[in-house]
Amino acid sequence: MKLVLATRNDHKLREFREALPRMEILPLPDEVELPAETGETFADNALEKARTAHKATGLAAIADDSGIEAAALDGLPCVRSARYAGDAATDEQNLQKLLDEVAAANGDRRVAYVCALVHVTGDGEEWLFEQRCTGRLATEPRGSGGFGYDPAFIPDDYDDDRTMAELRPDEKHAISHRGRAARAFREWLESRS
Ligand code: IMP
Repeated sequence: MKLVLATRNDHKLREFREALPRMEILPLPDEVELPAETGETFADNALEKARTAHKATGLAAIADDSGIEAAALDGLPCVRSARYAGDAATDEQNLQKLLDEVAAANGDRRVAYVCALVHVTGDGEEWLFEQRCTGRLATEPRGSGGFGYDPAFIPDDYDDDRTMAELRPDEKHAISHRGRAARAFREWLESRS
């Protein structure tokens, strides 16, 4: 089955291909412009991206919108995760801002990654799969795997103190918000066939 992935993020393309090995996941054609992420929820943003990819290509599409929520910051940065330190901010700058703000807050280091995955079928039906991965924020970044906030995200699912950036890719997929959403989507697809 062919699916267009509505993203310009090569990390996501790689992670979805690894998580859905039996699908042919196509990158979004260069000429298709993705909508600005102005929604108030991950689901709103994922829906707009998946609809855009489906309308532009006529193919079944998937899109995800994801981010991190910090308990000490009442859930921020949430849908602003990719540009928390400014529109042109790097992953390192976004992570440093989160570390600084959580350090200055109330000592609560609980965080969660959230992934909303929207699938638009070839016929235009729309389906949402939303999953979370909980953890706590390290005081300093560690590790070189993954991307974004991974160097400071210590998942609850393993008994050691490794950050997401210190896990092997298969260990990250097994527990991550995106891996869980991709599996929920895969199970749903299999239940329909
Ligand atoms: P978007 O889903 O493309 O809007 O980007 C979400 C942002 O959330 C990314 O730029 C990262 O900063 C962060 N993020 C989402 N998923 C992950 C992950 O698996 N690891 C680390 N950071 C993530």
